[in-house]
Amino acid sequence: MQKRNHDGWATRFGLIMAMAGNAVGLGNFLRFPGKAAPFGGAFMIPYFLVLVLVGIPLLWMEWTIGRIGGRYNHGSTPGMFHRMWAHPLSKYLGIFGILLPAMVGVYYIYIESWSLGYAWQTATGAYWGQNSYESMGKVFTSYLGISDSFFSFNPQSYFFFLIAFAVNIVVFSRGISRGIEVVARYCVPLLMLLGIVLAVRVLTLPPQDGRTISDGLAQIWHVTDWRVLLKSDVWIAAAGQIFFTLSVGLGMIHTYASYLNKSDDVTLNGLSASAMNEFAEVILGGTIAIPAAVLFFGAAQTREIAEGGTFSLGFFALPVIFQQMPGGQFFGTLWFFLLFLAGLTSSMAMFTPLLLFLEDELRANRKRAVNIMGIVVFILMQPAIIFMHHGVVDELDYWMGEFCLVLFATIETVLFSWVFGAARGWKELHYGAELQVPRIFFYIIKYVTPTFMLALLGWWVYDSLFDRVFMTGVDPASRPYLWLARLMMMGMAGFLIWGVRRAWKTHPKFFEEADTEGERV
Ligand code: ALA
Repeated sequence: MQKRNHDGWATRFGLIMAMAGNAVGLGNFLRFPGKAAPFGGAFMIPYFLVLVLVGIPLLWMEWTIGRIGGRYNHGSTPGMFHRMWAHPLSKYLGIFGILLPAMVGVYYIYIESWSLGYAWQTATGAYWGQNSYESMGKVFTSYLGISDSFFSFNPQSYFFFLIAFAVNIVVFSRGISRGIEVVARYCVPLLMLLGIVLAVRVLTLPPQDGRTISDGLAQIWHVTDWRVLLKSDVWIAAAGQIFFTLSVGLGMIHTYASYLNKSDDVTLNGLSASAMNEFAEVILGGTIAIPAAVLFFGAAQTREIAEGGTFSLGFFALPVIFQQMPGGQFFGTLWFFLLFLAGLTSSMAMFTPLLLFLEDELRANRKRAVNIMGIVVFILMQPAIIFMHHGVVDELDYWMGEFCLVLFATIETVLFSWVFGAARGWKELHYGAELQVPRIFFYIIKYVTPTFMLALLGWWVYDSLFDRVFMTGVDPASRPYLWLARLMMMGMAGFLIWGVRRAWKTHPKFFEEADTEGERV
């Protein structure tokens, strides 16, 4: 076996921190409150059900698929799928596992950079005095440089974007153990600590206008209307949140897991990393934004704010609250810095599949791979930044972070449970396992998870696919920008299809070698 990749996780602690950092991200602190608040406590029921029946099984599958791929020195899903299903199509299906995280990363790093910019703005009190929700909305649009003009551009936000981008590139150039692992070992515990400090601060806030913090917690933990569960939106929102927060269906977990040896545990490590993610999301994420907003704005307005978009609670409402609480400038700075760290530890994982595809399959050395990736991604980020207000980011998010995520999760579930076979998969999952997974999960993996995924995919197709494809109801003036977003996605997909063809043609031997029970070195 060709041994090319002399890198990997140096310690088990580092692996768990990196995997937890992969999962804990903007999704936990911004997306989760935004999705949960509109439904009241009813959201948490589908949320936990999908977590157990689909999220955790998918996570174990992805760790296992990644470890299988790593045995043959494949760090991305085209090679992994090829090893699990000897069909010419399998490697092309695996392209999603590089395309999705990279294209999500294109706008994710930009959002990560806003957090850094807002941490700075909060620390310097730049927006102090803008103490209504509406005026903070204006601060936000002006930070992004959104006006009536053709481009949206603000040199200050662009400067922070460049910093965030450069930090990511430096981490990639240092590799897994000296880059990603080192950052994760320090940043994940630090962000957890910041989250705990902020959660305690929110929990000890005094009553406001007759409302207490318990009223705020009730918004998540108390079901006021059970009939909400009869609607499909809450189920779709909860499922989408589980996928996004665990980073499953994106190809990001596979890549990190490809550095595991066959004897390394997957079951307990996978569960530990996801337990940290759930702690960060449900306990910390659930205790900061929503309860604080309910305390200051009331339940009805909090719902409205959350329905206004993913960033409304975190970037409009919380800064207003920070301005009203003692020590608010300090806690506000911590909040945005926490978002930045959470974003960074996830964005690192978003580009690793592309990087390892370039290294493992296209035989670029690390430096060249980082350069190619950096240039391509930097170019793709520019339309997302300057045309964001025309819907470019929303279009990327719908296709990459929602529809194709569900599609890819369905493909890999069917591949693992039905094509590769649940019995073989179960055996693979348990090599080196420090935790015997209860047998019931075998049946869940075999029947429940794939069926759920197929049903969910069917629902997506039925509910919104055709309207999205044909841009039904979209303002004609915005259409060219949405087409631009589509071109970006198709361009990247085209490059990956070319890459797969080239790799398999140029090094056919590499893709034929038998399982030697070898381990990635
Ligand atoms: N899992 C990552 C997040 O929650 C992508 O942001």
